[in-house]
Amino acid sequence: MSHFFLDGTEVPFTEGDTLMDAAQRAGHAIAHLCWDARLGQSGACRLCTVRIDGQLATACTVRARDGLVVENRTPELDARRLRLTQMLFVEGNHFCPGCEKSGDCLLQATACDLGMTGMHYDMLAPVRTVDASHPDVWLDLNRCILCKLCVRASHEADGKDVFAIGGHGIGTHVLVNSSTGLLGDSALAADDLAARICPVGAILPKRRGFAVPIGQRRFDPREGGNEQP
Ligand code: SF4
Ligand code: FES
Repeated sequence: MSHFFLDGTEVPFTEGDTLMDAAQRAGHAIAHLCWDARLGQSGACRLCTVRIDGQLATACTVRARDGLVVENRTPELDARRLRLTQMLFVEGNHFCPGCEKSGDCLLQATACDLGMTGMHYDMLAPVRTVDASHPDVWLDLNRCILCKLCVRASHEADGKDVFAIGGHGIGTHVLVNSSTGLLGDSALAADDLAARICPVGAILPKRRGFAVPIGQRRFDPREGGNEQP
């Protein structure tokens, strides 16, 4: 089987794998916020940026090749990831202690993994919409990091195109495809992948908040190790 080298460790891959696909399958974590094995490539968040033969590239879009030398957890690359993560925190309104996704949130887990202890930048504190019109799912754009996973899941997996991205620059935001623009008037169903794939707490099922106790959540530290982001 062909291999590439990730921080000096051999990682096997099969034809067509991206570096991210192969690394994750082999249990090697590469930071990511917009990658999901169930969907095609995107390259939206840039958290997975690695160095390949000295050049910066996103691990979720570059195909694995035999013998490739890939740097991942270097101080320089982690410093870039930390700044990106801090920008995501200040661009939105992320209040982890009061969020139902806490402990199961990829943004929060990534920040912890990178040793983030503060925001570094000034908070923008935007005023954004909360849409509670759907009977089973709610949408809080304050927590959205524009990873596009919901957009891609709705298109690629659910075949519904419930979500899209609109606006420009700092006003870029998720749009809902319905006559009113409200989630409750869209074709979204609670068991759609688009309703379950959000890596943060922007799209959440109703009546399920805090169902998993602290200490047992996906990224909680515990004996035997927690799940890596
Ligand atoms: Fe990503 Fe969630 Fe925002 Fe959709 S709502 S773009 S899944 S963060
Ligand atoms: Fe590669 Fe987001 S995970 S760009």
